[in-house]
Amino acid sequence: MRKSARTSYLEPDNNVKIKGLASLPEFQIREIAIDSSQVDRHVVTIIDPLSAASEQYRKLRARILAATKQDFQNTIMVTSADVGEGKSITSINFAVALAQEIDHTVLLVDADLRKPMIHKYLGIKADRGLSDYLSGTVDISDVLIHTGVGKLVLLPAGTPSMNPAELLSSNRMNELVQELKYRYRDRYIIFDTSPVLVSADAISMSSYVDGVLFVVAAAKTPERTVKKAIGLLQSAPVWGVVFNNVPDYLGKNLHPYYYYRYHQDTNQPTKTNNKDDKH
Ligand SMILES: Nc1ncnc2c1ncn2[C@@H]1O[C@H](COP(=O)(O)OP(=O)(O)OP(=O)(O)O)[C@@H](O)[C@H]1O
Ligand SMILES: [Mg+2]
Repeated sequence: MRKSARTSYLEPDNNVKIKGLASLPEFQIREIAIDSSQVDRHVVTIIDPLSAASEQYRKLRARILAATKQDFQNTIMVTSADVGEGKSITSINFAVALAQEIDHTVLLVDADLRKPMIHKYLGIKADRGLSDYLSGTVDISDVLIHTGVGKLVLLPAGTPSMNPAELLSSNRMNELVQELKYRYRDRYIIFDTSPVLVSADAISMSSYVDGVLFVVAAAKTPERTVKKAIGLLQSAPVWGVVFNNVPDYLGKNLHPYYYYRYHQDTNQPTKTNNKDDKH
């Protein structure tokens, strides 16, 4: 075989030793197929994928895919100012829409340890999850669930915790996000979180992720509340605002879900140098 300058240092008689930094075993992922008869009716991307509402989530997907073309822009946090504005439903529908797109593995993480709903909306029984991993009682492979919906993998919230703020702001959480992020470059990781104005959880989570999808309950959340909450998310750029539960969308009674608007706030930090040309 012809030797080249590039390969010669790998010859067996060469003294140079190649040391790996770490060897990462492949995750063993349990499979719990979602039963669509158990899924919440608002998870339209599963219940009614051809609906106008599902189409809106696919449009949201297209916008986010365009916004995250660059390497490593793959961790997205879904949050809102206040409770009950549709964060969890938006997280699931967005994750399913992404997972239905070929070649995109999607990990949906229920990081709302105060009010975990993702597994319930998906009709999955999941006693253990993120909180158990962060507490050190299980391995990550014990708590990941393959849903059978495209390439959607779920990391449920797990055992109710007395100290969610500490768990979510821990080094272990930071390391987990970084590991998940770098292990699979083509994997999107979506975090459902608590509301920004109710606890510090979403604010601390924002320092781990690349971008934020901010949910606004249409015709309900006051603008000053939205601005106040977005102002607190100093560590990650807000990639988009999702107006959820828009009444009488398009003038028809479609029971549609949201209207998405790209939100560009020059005061928001960016995590890459050239984020501006992504939209
Ligand atoms: N677009 C929608 N149309 C109708 N109902 C919706 C819509 N989005 C969410 N809901 C309903 O509103 C309620 C709250 O939704 P969801 O749990 O997603 O909100 P959340 O922001 O995650 O709440 P929390 O702050 O408690 O975590 C649920 O009953 C859900 O089914
Ligand atoms: Mg929720």
